[in-house]
Amino acid sequence: MNIFLFAPSLRRGSYNKKVIRIAAQFVESLQNHQVELCEFNEFPMPMYDGDLEVSQGIPEGVLKLAKKIETADAVIISSPEYNGSIPGTLKNAIDWLSRLDPVPLARKQICLLGASPGNLGGVRGNIHARVPFHILGAFVYPDYFGVARAHEAFDENDKFKDPKQLERLSALLTDFLQFASRKETPFDRLNEFFDEQKDQTHL
Ligand SMILES: Cc1cc2nc3c(=O)[nH]c(=O)nc-3n(C[C@H](O)[C@H](O)[C@H](O)COP(=O)(O)O)c2cc1C
Repeated sequence: MNIFLFAPSLRRGSYNKKVIRIAAQFVESLQNHQVELCEFNEFPMPMYDGDLEVSQGIPEGVLKLAKKIETADAVIISSPEYNGSIPGTLKNAIDWLSRLDPVPLARKQICLLGASPGNLGGVRGNIHARVPFHILGAFVYPDYFGVARAHEAFDENDKFKDPKQLERLSALLTDFLQFASRKETPFDRLNEFFDEQKDQTHL
């Protein structure tokens, strides 16, 4: 599969950039996926502005991000949490992407990761991030990996100090990639499921 990874933080020392680099290295090590890892800084974009959209169209950075998402079979994102919610960087990118037709996120398999100096590893922010993805028809994997106390979690080579972190992340990514590689989504088989239920209740 083609796997696209990014962390919507612009900060050079971003913990989420560290997490996404480790995730990309792991996916690459599986040797049966094409890995595309990008810095979010490669996709500069203004705040969504309807007037700008009308006068100048969709910004170049948004089109570039859209292309990466379109060509990916699955997307892995490590996102910061801001004020218990989705950071403006990611929400703004999603809002711009949603102006494209077709929306590149529709029916895309997405895995959310996170990192935060706090004790919850950004989990609250990523619960909120599920909503716009869901509204746009993406499938967000139910499991989540977050690095709590991120300021203490990495060594001088930007690897996890605690080997259990890599074990947990690898296990999650393995499960996600296996799930995302299935030809049909769970929703494609819902009618089949309901038909089976109907047949059984008639017995
Ligand atoms: C505006 C703002 C709001 C934040 N809110 C939260 C928060 O609600 N929960 C949390 O765990 N960390 C919060 N933080 C701390 C971030 O987790 C921290 O800055 C983290 O390093 C951001 O991710 P990054 O390292 O990938 O840039 C906030 C930081 C900023 C700048």
